[in-house]
Amino acid sequence: MQRLLIQNIGMLATPEGKSARRGADQGQIRVLQDAYVLIEDGIVAQIGTGTPSIADAEIIDAGGKLVTPGLVDAHTHLIFGGWRQNELGLKLHGATYLDILAMGGGILSTVNATRQATEDELYDKAKEALDEMLALGVTTVEAKSGYGLDMDNELKQLRVIRRLGEDHPMDIVPTFLGAHAVPTEYKEDREAYIRLLCEEAIPAVAKAGLAEFCDVFCETGVFSAAESQVILEAGKEWGLVPKIHADEIDPIGGSQLTEEVGAISAEHLIVCPPEGIAAMAKAGTVACLLPATSFYLGSTFAPARAMIQAGVPVAMASDFNPGSCPSLNLQFVINLGCLKYRMTPEEVLTAVTLNGAAAIGRADKLGSLEVGKQGDLVIWDAPDLNYICYRMGSNLVRTVIKNGKAL
Ligand code: NIG
Ligand code: FE
Repeated sequence: MQRLLIQNIGMLATPEGKSARRGADQGQIRVLQDAYVLIEDGIVAQIGTGTPSIADAEIIDAGGKLVTPGLVDAHTHLIFGGWRQNELGLKLHGATYLDILAMGGGILSTVNATRQATEDELYDKAKEALDEMLALGVTTVEAKSGYGLDMDNELKQLRVIRRLGEDHPMDIVPTFLGAHAVPTEYKEDREAYIRLLCEEAIPAVAKAGLAEFCDVFCETGVFSAAESQVILEAGKEWGLVPKIHADEIDPIGGSQLTEEVGAISAEHLIVCPPEGIAAMAKAGTVACLLPATSFYLGSTFAPARAMIQAGVPVAMASDFNPGSCPSLNLQFVINLGCLKYRMTPEEVLTAVTLNGAAAIGRADKLGSLEVGKQGDLVIWDAPDLNYICYRMGSNLVRTVIKNGKAL
């Protein structure tokens, strides 16, 4: 048996439970001083205080620092070709995100670059991003397709995700996002693209076991709420659990759809109306908020406090993508959670760990430090939880432990 003992932990901070925490519970976390964690064969076996004597254990001295669960990034567009730095100039001259998309730029220019890239090129590029995420304290990541927008290229992206999941220490959870935009070749016949998604792409993805979730970009100029519903229902028939990019720019009914389709999570929710919050509360949908995208788009910030008050569990993720959020830094997201959503450090910790895990169906296995869960944790170069919420722009990770192994 492989035993790893992390001792001399100044503060251990973790949410608790096997499901998302909502309402006042989101801010209730367990805090231990002078703590230790014992991991056996990758699974947390003991947590306590003081210095235990455990035979045959490799020992890591946490140096009196903060330990939290490994961070969970529950929303990324990890696999893409190229970058879009040229759009920064357009933005600075006043073009909006939807203007650029309507001009054939935005997502569609990344689609071109992704179609041109080989599987190995996409693999190498995404691997670099994963290495960087891991170094920033992320131990589990969700990854979407959505820059192929045809059968071959969507499957190519999903195969890259699968290979990375096999090769990389990070846990990677795959989502099919063929409904990220209507590709140029279907511009005059969007119905035909929706049919392709529902009748060919979703069955092919499901049969190959290449995704667990089906996501849709429900937005003005992209997919309407009615179209999104059709696509998500088709996904459900094939066992793909619904997720929805909703209310990012315009509130066109995406968040209300969560209840109808039983979505596990809704994403963005920047302009989520009260009816959308009520629908999510009723459905138990996790609100997966992406504050770095609000920051980058220069938009307002999602009504996180209203969601918490209404009993909607709030997660936070990076939304890493080449257009609306060219950052994969979940530590920046932690800062924004406090400063822009006015969430407490305890609520923020839950948002980037246990509730993130719940948004990708993993709350029973990870997202908190408890006996029986995966041995994924971060030793921070920080004395306490407040410190990582307050310091900005530095990588505060000291050591990442994944499945009981120090990386
Ligand atoms: O989550 N909103 C849709 N998709 C991404 C942006 C994708 C892109 O611009 O390439 C997002 O913000
Ligand atoms: Fe996104």
